[in-house]
Amino acid sequence: MTQTKTSLHYLKGFLREDEIHAMQSKANIAYQQLVNKTGKGNDFLGWVDWTETFDMEIVSRIEYQAAILRKKSQVFVVIGIGGSYLGTRAVIEALGNPFQLGNASLGSPQIIYAGHQLSEDYHAQLLNYLEDKEYSLAVISKSGTTTEPAVAFRMLKTHLEQKYGKAEAQTRIVAITDARKGALKKLADDEGYATYIVPDDVGGRYSVLTPVGLFPIAMAGFDIRKLLEGAKNMRTQLLKSSIVTENPAIEYAIIRNLLYQKGKTTEILVNYEPRLYYLTEWWKQLYGESEGKENKGIFPAGISLTTDLHSMGQYVQEGLRNLFETVLSVEQPVQTLSIPNDPDNLDGLNFLTGKRLSEVNKMAELGTILAHADGGVPNFRITIPQINETTLGELIYFFEFACGVSGYILGVNPFDQPGVEAYKKNMFALLGKPGFEKETEEIRKRI
Ligand code: PA5
Repeated sequence: MTQTKTSLHYLKGFLREDEIHAMQSKANIAYQQLVNKTGKGNDFLGWVDWTETFDMEIVSRIEYQAAILRKKSQVFVVIGIGGSYLGTRAVIEALGNPFQLGNASLGSPQIIYAGHQLSEDYHAQLLNYLEDKEYSLAVISKSGTTTEPAVAFRMLKTHLEQKYGKAEAQTRIVAITDARKGALKKLADDEGYATYIVPDDVGGRYSVLTPVGLFPIAMAGFDIRKLLEGAKNMRTQLLKSSIVTENPAIEYAIIRNLLYQKGKTTEILVNYEPRLYYLTEWWKQLYGESEGKENKGIFPAGISLTTDLHSMGQYVQEGLRNLFETVLSVEQPVQTLSIPNDPDNLDGLNFLTGKRLSEVNKMAELGTILAHADGGVPNFRITIPQINETTLGELIYFFEFACGVSGYILGVNPFDQPGVEAYKKNMFALLGKPGFEKETEEIRKRI
């Protein structure tokens, strides 16, 4: 039984029930393509049954190795980009304490990220920070050839070897990569790093529940079994029926395609918990990379409220009416905090005395949903009771499944990313990579 609930209540006036039901047959086809693995990109559907097929021995091995590495690490550096980074960060930041940053301690390492961009300042500051810290790292790259993580790894590996010596450094490096190919696989074999496999049939942005996410999440001290259990529960529910009223992922896939057809070309994922910021970043990659192709697809955006009501709120309320919102609603916080009484009441807030801050936040949420709907922005709502490993596992599987169905309804291959290559080709040409001589000559004329 899943804990995630969806609501169409704030779509009234934007979508009619008959329109939703009219898309059912298209959704059925998409659903069958996904479940039976007969659609485009069907060699990348390993994640659909992953919770059933995954070898739980690997979970035990991850837990065991992470426990050893945690004991000798104040900091754990996760090197990766895109699908080899965002899901990990989404889960760790959703479950972690934001004030732990800078509080690195042996046995409970601070998690830091590298290789998700090419900033010299960032990486220099990171190496400087690591100077007096006990640390270890994971280098995560399915292809094993992605420039950003490969460059960061080269720098961190050098630093680690200088700090600890080669033999000890080797015990502090975990490689997560392809089973057979890629430069990282060869290096990991040569150096004898602990290695985990990214399955062939799981693409980067669908890989957070494989060792790609599980190892760093275990290093952060969270329960990876519960994460998998949440995903498994959601899978069970979604595989029971493709009927829109019984399957929330089908419902979500249908409403986003209908809204898109009505000119709502930007979807904003909205959260009211800052710890969900990176879940939004993960979701943006998942949907943007899966659907944005062939000159079509919804543009996925994100806002964190109530913070962004004081920046983007104006646009959402009154800007171009091509928007719809999907609100990630959390029923209960994990912590408890009430607003105190003030006898002077100079701020006039005594009407809130004794109220939980979450109640004020909830009224802000409901008030905003109504205001945005009144302003012409349809709202779809997804509710979880609380943020924890199980509900995050549910959400991850829910969004992945809905993304597959939605992409198939749209008529694209939701599992490739041909457009990502264009910048790489130019970058390599500009950097004079061997084999790119002709491109180098051509591109240099253009700048
Ligand atoms: O979703 C994807 O496939 C991409 O975002 C990749 O995850 C990203 O490009 C990183 O690739 P790799 O893991 O091969 O380094």
